[in-house]
Amino acid sequence: MKLAVPTEVRPGEQRVALVPSELARLPGVEVLVQRGAGDRALFPDHDYEEAGATVVERPEELYRQADMVAKVQPLTLAEADLMPEGASSLSFLAPSAHLDLVRRLADRKVTAYSFELVPRISRAQAMDALSSQATVAGYRAVLVAASRLGKFFPLFMTAAGTVPPARTLIMGAGVAGLQAIATARRLGAVVSAYDVRAAAKEEVKSLGATFLELSLEAQEGAGGYAVAQSEDFLARQQELISSHVARSDVVITTAAIPGRRAPVLVTEAMVRGMHPGSVIVDLAASTGGNCELTKDGEEVSFNGVHIIAASELAATMPTHASSFFARNVSSFVKLLVKDGRLAPDFNDEIVDKSAVTVAGSVHHEPTRTALEEAQS
Ligand code: NAI
Repeated sequence: MKLAVPTEVRPGEQRVALVPSELARLPGVEVLVQRGAGDRALFPDHDYEEAGATVVERPEELYRQADMVAKVQPLTLAEADLMPEGASSLSFLAPSAHLDLVRRLADRKVTAYSFELVPRISRAQAMDALSSQATVAGYRAVLVAASRLGKFFPLFMTAAGTVPPARTLIMGAGVAGLQAIATARRLGAVVSAYDVRAAAKEEVKSLGATFLELSLEAQEGAGGYAVAQSEDFLARQQELISSHVARSDVVITTAAIPGRRAPVLVTEAMVRGMHPGSVIVDLAASTGGNCELTKDGEEVSFNGVHIIAASELAATMPTHASSFFARNVSSFVKLLVKDGRLAPDFNDEIVDKSAVTVAGSVHHEPTRTALEEAQS
C-alpha cells in the first residue's frame, strides 16, 4: 500500500500530514512524500528519505501512484481530480461545508475519511485530530493574546512599580479551552472560565481557575457534547456574563456546537463595556464566531478592543502540530491496513463513522441528506 503525503496548498497552512518519525509505526506501508512537503514544519526531505520514504517531485506524479493520500486540509477540487479512481483519502474534510468536494470524491469513487467524524471513544483517542489540534490552538491563543495585550500577564512587584495580573476569561472549556486555561495560568494570569456542560466545572477547577457559576441550566447532550442552545438561553447567558467580560483584559472564546454555527457569546454591547486595549481571541471564527464583531481571517478594533479571528491557530505552530497530527494519521492508517494492503473493516465503528464517501457512494448519512437537499 502506497501512502502519499502532498504539500499543503491552502495559503497559511504550514503543517504536513506525516512526519518522518511516524514511518517506523507503519511497517509494510510505502510512504511517498512530495518534495518540500515538510519544509515549513521543519521536516526536511532528507529526514523522510532516511526514515524510508521516497521523495516525489510533482503532485501529479505523487497522486497518480497513491493508494491513499493523507492531508491536513480538505482536498481542493483540483486535488480531488488528481486522485486515482478507487483510492482513499484521510484529512480534515468538514463535509457539510464542502458538498461540492464530497460529490467530486464520490464521482471519482474515492473512499474519503474525515477526521471530524472520528468517534470520540477511548479506542480512537490516538486518532483524534480535532483534539490534538485544539490542544495546539488553545495554547497558541493565549500567546497571541499575551503578545497583543499592552500589559503583563503575571503580577509584578518591582522597584519601578506594581502591576496586577491580567484577568483572563475563557468561554468554552473543551479541549482548546482547558489548554488555554492551563497556559494562561502558567503565564501568571488570573483565570476564570465558563462552559455550558456541567462536567467542565471540575476540570476548570482542577487547573486552578475559577468556574463562573451562572444560574443557567446545563446544556449537555449525547456523548458529553453541548447541545445547540435557544436564543433565550444565549440572551440570559450574555446578560449574566457581561460584567465578567467587562472586567477582563483578555477573553478567549472556544465555544462550538458540532455541525452548527458557533453560538454568539460576546455581543457588540458587551465589547463596548470592555476597557480599551483589551483583547478577544475568537477560536470559533470560521464557524461564525463567538463574538458578534469577529470577522473571519481578520483582526478588528472596536472602541480600542482588539478582536482577533483565530480559526487556524494550529497551522501557525507547525512543528508540534504536525507531529501530533502525524500520530493521528499513522494510528488511523494502521487500523485500515492488513498485511501491507488497505483492508478497511466497515464493521469497525471507527472506520464506518469516519467515512464520508465509500467507493462511489456518499456513506455519511447527514452529508447524503445535505447533498439531496442542495440538489432539490
Ligand atoms: P467543541 O470544540 O465542540 O466545543 C468547545 C466547548 O464549547 C465545549 O466544551 C462546549 O461545551 C462549549 N460550549 C458550547 N456552547 C457554549 C456556550 N454557549 N457557552 C460556553 N461554552 C459553550 O468541544 P471539544 O473541545 O471538541 O470537546 C467537547 C467534549 O468532548 C468535552 O466533553 C470533551 O471532554 C469531550 N472529548 C472527549 C474525547 C474522548 O473521549 N476521546 C476526546 C475529546 C473531547
